[in-house]
Amino acid sequence: MQARSGKELREMFLSFFESKGHKRYPSFSLVPDDPSILFTIAGMVPFKPYFLGQKTPEVTRATTSQKCVRTNDIDNVGRTARHHTFFEMLGNFSFGDYFKKEASLFAWEFLTERVGLDPDRLYPTIYKDDEEAFEIWNKVVGVPANRIYRLGEEDNFWSVGPVGPCGPCSELIYDQGPEFSCGSPDCGLECDCDRYLEVWNLVFMQYNRDEEGNLNPLPKKNIDTGMGLERLASVVQQVKGDFETDLFKPLVAKASSIMGVNYGAGGREDMAVRVVSDHLRAVAFMIADGIMPSNEGRGYVLRRILRRAVRYGRLAGVERPFLTELLPVLNEIMADPYEELILHKNLIEQVIEQEELRFGRTLEQGTTLLEEEIRNVKSSGGKTLSGVVAFELYDTFGFPFELTEEICKEAGVEVKFEEFQKEMEKQRERARAAWAKSESNKIEMDEGLLKDLEPSEFTGYEKEEDEGKVLAVVVDNEKKEACAEGQECYVVLNKTPFYGEKGGQVGDEGVLEWQPGGRAKVLDTQVSSGGHYVHKVRVESGKLKVGDFVVAKVDSGRRKKIKAHHTSTHLLHEALIRVLGDHVRQAGSLVAPDFLRFDFTHVKPMTKDEIKEVENIVFGVITDNLALETHITNIEEAKKLGAKALFEEKYGDKVRVIVVPGYSAELCGGTHVNRTGDIGVFKIVKEEGIGAGLRRITALASDAAFLKFQEQAEKLDELSEILEAEEGQLKEKALSLLEQRKKLQDEVERLNVEKAQLAVDEMLQKAVEVEGVLLCSGIFDELPPNVLRQVGDKIRNSRKSSVAILASKAKDQVTFVVMADKDAMAKGVHAGKLAKSIAQLLGGGGGGRPDVAQAGAKKVDGVKEALNKAIDILREMIG
Ligand code: ALA
Repeated sequence: MQARSGKELREMFLSFFESKGHKRYPSFSLVPDDPSILFTIAGMVPFKPYFLGQKTPEVTRATTSQKCVRTNDIDNVGRTARHHTFFEMLGNFSFGDYFKKEASLFAWEFLTERVGLDPDRLYPTIYKDDEEAFEIWNKVVGVPANRIYRLGEEDNFWSVGPVGPCGPCSELIYDQGPEFSCGSPDCGLECDCDRYLEVWNLVFMQYNRDEEGNLNPLPKKNIDTGMGLERLASVVQQVKGDFETDLFKPLVAKASSIMGVNYGAGGREDMAVRVVSDHLRAVAFMIADGIMPSNEGRGYVLRRILRRAVRYGRLAGVERPFLTELLPVLNEIMADPYEELILHKNLIEQVIEQEELRFGRTLEQGTTLLEEEIRNVKSSGGKTLSGVVAFELYDTFGFPFELTEEICKEAGVEVKFEEFQKEMEKQRERARAAWAKSESNKIEMDEGLLKDLEPSEFTGYEKEEDEGKVLAVVVDNEKKEACAEGQECYVVLNKTPFYGEKGGQVGDEGVLEWQPGGRAKVLDTQVSSGGHYVHKVRVESGKLKVGDFVVAKVDSGRRKKIKAHHTSTHLLHEALIRVLGDHVRQAGSLVAPDFLRFDFTHVKPMTKDEIKEVENIVFGVITDNLALETHITNIEEAKKLGAKALFEEKYGDKVRVIVVPGYSAELCGGTHVNRTGDIGVFKIVKEEGIGAGLRRITALASDAAFLKFQEQAEKLDELSEILEAEEGQLKEKALSLLEQRKKLQDEVERLNVEKAQLAVDEMLQKAVEVEGVLLCSGIFDELPPNVLRQVGDKIRNSRKSSVAILASKAKDQVTFVVMADKDAMAKGVHAGKLAKSIAQLLGGGGGGRPDVAQAGAKKVDGVKEALNKAIDILREMIG
């Protein structure tokens, strides 16, 4: 067998299947277009709707090398030479085209004839009673019956999740030879060691498992196969484990040199190198696909992986942020074909570096604390760590639960996950309470009610008024024949000009009218996942019935404002890229009639100059009054137009591109102005951070911006009036007022000190001697403690062996400052104790050092008596 590089194998695989009539697609994003899973975990994920028959594919045969992330087994990553968080899955797919026989023949041909694996070392496994698969391997391919293994559900039935497409599968296992064996006498086909490796999984996708666990036959029989590229490379390159292949070796070498590890010696240090090499790939690819570190969802997984890598770096003694040093090596291996690594190079670097710095600062403290807790647990003979501690580590030091768990596991201690979860839930409750007001007005209705309806036709790009037929009326989550006057309900129309909330743009409002005299106010519009336009309405007159024809009229004034804000987000997006760099990527947006919000990737706050520059660019395009163009095309053409935001879209799909000629192009389904001049005016009103590497801009366009300017001008007028200055003089006036204020404050202070000086003289006259110590006391009205201390100093400096007890009375609070000089202290006076005793007489407290102390109490009336009693306290103290 000829040794080949990972890159060659990838290319061989894809072109082999192209030669078998498959369309080659570039890898899809790690972020699936599927709310039921966090990541693309297999090659079939982007094709799920085709397997389920929900969408019709453009071709019936496809092949990919798909980027995948799996984190269910993260603890094992690094421990073994075969587990990964990120990997590439080679796959070929049939959507109702060929089935078991061709899939098996293709796989056999590729492995034995193209790659050159020894056919005598290949073992097919099949699902226990899959006779058809048995016959194919045995009769058609010609594998002897004793080399075909029948296995159960666990090994040979594959599903993407508890619900969804699934089917029996057949795996190809390759015997690497006795030199790869673990040596156990039981070592055989099912052993986990390196001798018998599963290289390829062929799934005969023919069922859809529902919530109850029933296997419902799919409309068509499909093929889904998956072969790990890293594993295939290790077999072909005849090395021990994936980390020895050319897909990893340079990374492993670089990581070893940074970490000062002599890789290959075995043990913990090797593991650390593998963790770092594996995790770096995952982290870089996740960021390249638009994932940002955060405390939930994908962002949390990213953070968890990155932090685990940092921790292993520390374990190997690397104290500085180091992960970004590996990026050039990764790019060398992977940037062809994964150009996103280069496209988002800056972003990847910045995000990793920032996150590493952030975590590095707390890692040590957290680890020390955790180790102490573990010692406590062990010394008291326990075996479990409280989940509350795990939560504190999470909350204060950013320790992902899994990290705490892993560190504990290494020490033989278990962590109570339920307790941790409880604490998390409490925190979520707190967050929810703080969030009280929900921002969007989502339709609260079971979408299943609409499943038999045809999808609605949206005519709102061209029209703001159109006729549609009522397909369904839903009141209180029940389908009804009609909705009566005064009632609220959801209405689905077959055709509507109302825009349903999507892509950040809010839904339209307006009215529905029908004969005779019927009218309903549309409060919001949403689109169901099945493409039904759902209008939330209140019937104002008449009765709205299923089957009625209604005239739907969008509130066009409101729509006009929304359009201005939507086009503004496109202008803003491009301007941000021009000013800040091409690491800027849209991370979310909200387009409303009265404002827009735009979230994007950027690691530091924008400067005032940058904000101004962005505003200037946007305003420049507005005054250029360019006519917008809309192109309906495919993704390849969109790319040629220079369209941004290609990540979530599927290749081959029809896409809509909004082009501002000579300025920007963006995929978008929203509604836009005809010419940029229609926006009128644009102003950024806020720029803030909303998470690691994420910023948010709030801006106003058109009427909203104009109103803001008007309002600001009014405020300026008011200020001019109050400050009695022309607008041009306002700043000077304000500064001079502040200066005056400062002068007055200084004057007040000077007078206070003067007053205190007079008081000092008076106090010294009235002072009493107690056991050789001169006690001076006085009561003042609202003197700040610093002035009291100045008085005290004056007393201490003018008489040897003196004590000052100074009280300042406010409405319901008395403050004492007690000071003693050296001689007094030598005689046994302690200012702190004295202050405390006096305050206690009035139900208060305080204390301090032997020379200076402060105390306070709320009982203002008894101050005089308390000071009288001070004589006795002092005497006792000295005596
Ligand atoms: N989807 C199958 C797997 O992931 C091929 O193993």
